[in-house]
Amino acid sequence: MPDEGLRKRKTGTSKSEKQSVQNETTDEPEFDIDSAALLQYLKILWIPLVLCFAVFVYFNPSTLSDIANFWIESEDWQASPGSSTKSFVGLSADVEKRDAVVEAFKHAWRAYGLMVERDAMGNDEYHPISHKGTNLTKAGGIGYTVIDSIDTMLIMGLEDDYARARKWVESSLSFDRDASFNTFETTIRVLGGLLSAYELTGHDKLYIDRAIDLADRILPAFDTNSGLPLPNINLGKREGVADVDLPYLVSTAEVSTLQLELRYLSHLTDEDIYWEKAESVMKTIKEHRMPHGLASIYMHVDTGEFVPSAIRLGSRGDSYYEYLLKQYIQTNQTEAVYREMYDDAMAAVNEHLITKSPYTRMTYTSELVPERNSGGQLSWRLTPKQDHLVCFFGGSLMLGATITGASTIPMSIPPRQSEFTDHGKRDWKNGAELIKTCVDTHDTLTGLSPEIAHFRIPSDGMFDIFSQSGVPADWYIKGARPGVEAPYDARYILRPETVESLFLAFRLTGDIRYRDWGWSIFQSIEKHCKVDTGGYASIMNVDEVPSRKEDKMETFLMSETLKYLFLLFEDASVLPLDKYVFNTEAHPLPIFTPHIRTGFS
Ligand SMILES: *[C@@H]1O[C@H](CO)[C@@H](O)[C@H](O)[C@H]1NC(C)=O
Ligand SMILES: *[C@@H]1O[C@H](CO)[C@@H](O)[C@H](O)[C@H]1NC(C)=O
Repeated sequence: MPDEGLRKRKTGTSKSEKQSVQNETTDEPEFDIDSAALLQYLKILWIPLVLCFAVFVYFNPSTLSDIANFWIESEDWQASPGSSTKSFVGLSADVEKRDAVVEAFKHAWRAYGLMVERDAMGNDEYHPISHKGTNLTKAGGIGYTVIDSIDTMLIMGLEDDYARARKWVESSLSFDRDASFNTFETTIRVLGGLLSAYELTGHDKLYIDRAIDLADRILPAFDTNSGLPLPNINLGKREGVADVDLPYLVSTAEVSTLQLELRYLSHLTDEDIYWEKAESVMKTIKEHRMPHGLASIYMHVDTGEFVPSAIRLGSRGDSYYEYLLKQYIQTNQTEAVYREMYDDAMAAVNEHLITKSPYTRMTYTSELVPERNSGGQLSWRLTPKQDHLVCFFGGSLMLGATITGASTIPMSIPPRQSEFTDHGKRDWKNGAELIKTCVDTHDTLTGLSPEIAHFRIPSDGMFDIFSQSGVPADWYIKGARPGVEAPYDARYILRPETVESLFLAFRLTGDIRYRDWGWSIFQSIEKHCKVDTGGYASIMNVDEVPSRKEDKMETFLMSETLKYLFLLFEDASVLPLDKYVFNTEAHPLPIFTPHIRTGFS
């Protein structure tokens, strides 16, 4: 009875090379104003004082932003951890906004669905301008879009749409495709989607059968010397496939972002093999820990060692950090090894990657890029570049702070400062500030943030820092200039990471600001990405209106972006954070206490 488990939508409102900028601190200005005489003087002297200040500011333009920032920071710090309750709105649904997101989902899904009437829903990817579908390979589709969207339909209570999708999975889905698929993407989107559909339908057997079939086809990717899985898998032949260009390399985030899915499958089936394969990757990573506790983005598939390559929270690095925390959460905080690995990594990120911009003091994460000099010596260069992908990290840090950084459990909503350990306070504050930065990178003509933002560093000099409005701009889109074709960095491809963080931050604080920011991003998507005839499109340049659209609707729009927006406005009793952990494609999986004991520590 597949429909029985449908989650009904609630309608009620029931309720290094680290830079010196990093070390700057905003000292509280000290004034001695206890003398009435001084006040008298001030009354007379205010004109020359203002003039002096104006001259001073003219030569030291960062002063104003420093002062402003001091107040903003202290306000943030209070508002988020709870001493102020003025923006606390509780965790019940905002029905109107939530339902607007459902309408958007219908607009996206039914555009695909209309095309689907003709093509039997088989297409992996959807092109919203030509209204055409394509498959990842010539061998035929693997349900990329359909399976990625199923749990969103279940959560939103779209029963008819869901029924058609289920019928397709039952009658037409096949993984017997003789072609090479990305191991990581297939796991997080398709295996993750099947597992969460299984959970949210109250264990509809169809989904677990399909999940087992798919996972068994993926396992051969792990047959390498190191146990690190190959980046691709031929699902039909059941063979791992190395990368053509980088045959010995695997990307760190890809090998370490299969664990939630495979471990949950073992939990469900009592077959330990999936768990063992997933865990052996984590053992290898732990064994080859880099000296500072960070992880570079490539590993060697034979030796299992890290290969000198960029260190970042963006592409190929991101979800390694995410899954350290989430594996600890997934098994109900019973596996201390993940807590240790996560805390170790967060200390290193804080030490080496978290950076503040010089003028408006935005918190962001830099990248460390390895360089060899002519003598072959390795050094690391700090690069002020942040992918949109990094924006998952603010919410992740805040979530982590309430788990590994909690001195009291359960925490209040919003948490009080006294409920955090020292590193909990650190991560919470960094997280809240990173979210603010990600929101600030939406300050573009479309209100959407670019794929990649660069930040000013002091060596950029003074002349470049004034944007057209005359206000110092600490971030910019590299290569974007009037009259020049927009660079790759300038696009917005419907990515979810900022709204993912807003969802987590709202659930942890009940602070209305997170909903307000999410709503404004949603409205920008509606205004600039919506295709009138159906679907949503990526846009080529966040600083161009009317927007120029690209004929592509990424599957994560329906699985992540619209789901997180929906949950941001939905009642917090739907998929509560103490019962579910979201995989990196936003597929919710239940938290469980494991019966498997492998002794990994
Ligand atoms: C994609 O694959 C599915 C399933 O094999 C098939 O029905 C569909 O026609 C394919 N689409 C294209 C554009 O080839
Ligand atoms: C998690 O552990 C706590 C006790 O530590 C227990 O009360 C709770 O039921 C467990 N949750 C799950 C989902 O197993």
